[in-house]
Amino acid sequence: MAFPKTRMRRLRATHQLRGLVRETQLAAQDLIYPLFVAEGISGREPIWTMPGIERLSITEAVAEAGSAVALGIGAVILFGIPATKDPEGSGAYDDDGIVQLATRAIKAAHPDLIVVTDVCLCEYTDHGHCGVVRGLTVDNDATLDLLARTAVSQARAGADIVAPSDMMDGRIGHIRAALDEADLTQTPILAYSSKFASAFYGPFRAAADSAPAFGDRRGYQLDPANGTEAVRESLLDVEEGADLLMVKPALPYLDIIRRVKELTQLPLVAYNTGGEYSMLKAAAAAGYMDERQAVLEALTGIRRAGADIIITYHAKDAALWLT
Ligand code: PBG
Ligand code: ZN
Repeated sequence: MAFPKTRMRRLRATHQLRGLVRETQLAAQDLIYPLFVAEGISGREPIWTMPGIERLSITEAVAEAGSAVALGIGAVILFGIPATKDPEGSGAYDDDGIVQLATRAIKAAHPDLIVVTDVCLCEYTDHGHCGVVRGLTVDNDATLDLLARTAVSQARAGADIVAPSDMMDGRIGHIRAALDEADLTQTPILAYSSKFASAFYGPFRAAADSAPAFGDRRGYQLDPANGTEAVRESLLDVEEGADLLMVKPALPYLDIIRRVKELTQLPLVAYNTGGEYSMLKAAAAAGYMDERQAVLEALTGIRRAGADIIITYHAKDAALWLT
């Protein structure tokens, strides 16, 4: 039944036919919009590595959450920038820390908006690593309790989902046990299971002021060359009690998204990172590409690879373009 009986162009002839046979849908509801909430600032501060994204005071974070609601965006994910940092990252598990305060304020103003909180110490440690440092290495087991305290504190503040992003071993099981112990049995965990040691986090680290002061994160984040190991990490997190899984970054790791999707049954989140965002913004600003088409194509590609949900700094623009 090949040509000329078969003509693939028949179903591509009109906008309506293309819509009818479209395999992948992109919707604002499936997007998560990241917010950077900074302690001790008033208003908004631009982030030079991420055009269009700003550090926000709590008041401005509530306003930004409001525009996400108005656009039909599914959720926001909060990252905190504390006024002071210390070796143990105590701002992360302070009940009056910046993320806890922002969570309470956003949930009070927008009770139906899903608030996800990033569970990690690197924004709060003076050395910038994701855990407690002993000598030149990050102490896995000593970090687990601090992550668990962070998750419990955030959930008590009203976080709907907690999202550990540190890549310590055993953190999902440890956090699940701590949440259950604190009667937070209904709080889901979004596990950053396949988080690669990536150059694409550069813009984020400038935004969150969380670059490691020495060394790098290759002792805990995944080697970009390893796909099977990412699958293994995902399966371990399923076993430890994760409710959702993540692959991060997204665009250079579409094969990992596909493999994890096929080998697990959990909802899969892809993180379209700051580097992916800024690359496109820079190309669009230089006039190399049409921003709207490129963004929608990139996000559709991430969904087609197998992601159910996308965390993206393009969320507001994409939501607007999709309506
Ligand atoms: C903190 C964290 C990072 C990101 C999310 N949580 C950065 C890192 O691990 O260095 C990256 C987000 C982005 O690049 O947009 N652990
Ligand atoms: Zn971290």
